[in-house]
Amino acid sequence: MSRLRGAAFTPVVVSREAVGDVVVLELAPLEGRRLPGWRPGAHLDVVIPPSAVPGGLTRQYSLIGDPAAPTWRIAVLREAESGGGSTWLHGVREGDTLQVGGPHNHFEFRAGPAPVLFLAGGVGITPISAMAHAAAATGRDYAVHYAGRAGNMALVDDLRALHGERLHLYRDGVRLDLPGVLGAAAPGTAVYACGPARLLDEAEAEASRAGLEFHAERFVAVPLRAPVWPEPFEVELQFSGLTLEVPPEKSILEVVEEHGVLVPWSCSEGTCGTCETPVAEGEIDHRDSILTAQERARMDTMFICVSRAACPRLVLEL
Ligand code: FES
Repeated sequence: MSRLRGAAFTPVVVSREAVGDVVVLELAPLEGRRLPGWRPGAHLDVVIPPSAVPGGLTRQYSLIGDPAAPTWRIAVLREAESGGGSTWLHGVREGDTLQVGGPHNHFEFRAGPAPVLFLAGGVGITPISAMAHAAAATGRDYAVHYAGRAGNMALVDDLRALHGERLHLYRDGVRLDLPGVLGAAAPGTAVYACGPARLLDEAEAEASRAGLEFHAERFVAVPLRAPVWPEPFEVELQFSGLTLEVPPEKSILEVVEEHGVLVPWSCSEGTCGTCETPVAEGEIDHRDSILTAQERARMDTMFICVSRAACPRLVLEL
């Protein structure tokens, strides 16, 4: 069972709007309290109770739109093949409460004067909507390219009202021409993308060809490649005073938990960011779907559900 990280809240659902297979839930604080602030790109950890899914689950949903709004909004795509969390959330009604943790942010939108291209596929529009809101508020040059299945695209009216001609929609068979869009971007443009793996893989390749800064949030983990260090390695837990051996067939997270050290985790596949652990020493074999190339190069943090050592020994701030 996954664990919630940080502060927990119990907001109440004050509105729900279904658009095809997507439901947008608006959450308000109970009894006149205020919800914590957040920055574009942030997400909530939403608890799916054991009554809905055996053992319970925690799932991540990006916050939508204006970070200064007094309520939170999330969008949930119904995924029949998933663990059942999205089906349960589609059954939530106005007046129900949710248990949530966060907000947390592993997809920060960086301030600055550079132009920005936002790319969204399907429900990937959720973090992009918050970033585009911030770009509009600060007068930055930007454009939003949003592709999806007709009848299944949430937030279109909100986006159109706020972004006007800066919003480009691709539906009803109209294809988002990534080489054309990214190839025509001004030098120095930053690209922020969220959506299906195919869109992100192609966008990343085109951004790299065009020499553009690229940031993405993935829902689906990139396939795990073979570890750089195929032998067992040691992890020293600085604060717990333990030194543990991690065999090739186990993750650091599994070994640490077996020895009674509690680490929050959720996806166990390197996409949600919940198990992030600071690293004091050692070379990391990053295998997550979260960090940028620059963040990886710093060698100061890792996601211990999938990432491993690229050397005989790591020292973790645990
Ligand atoms: S538990 Fe999700 S990234 Fe490790």
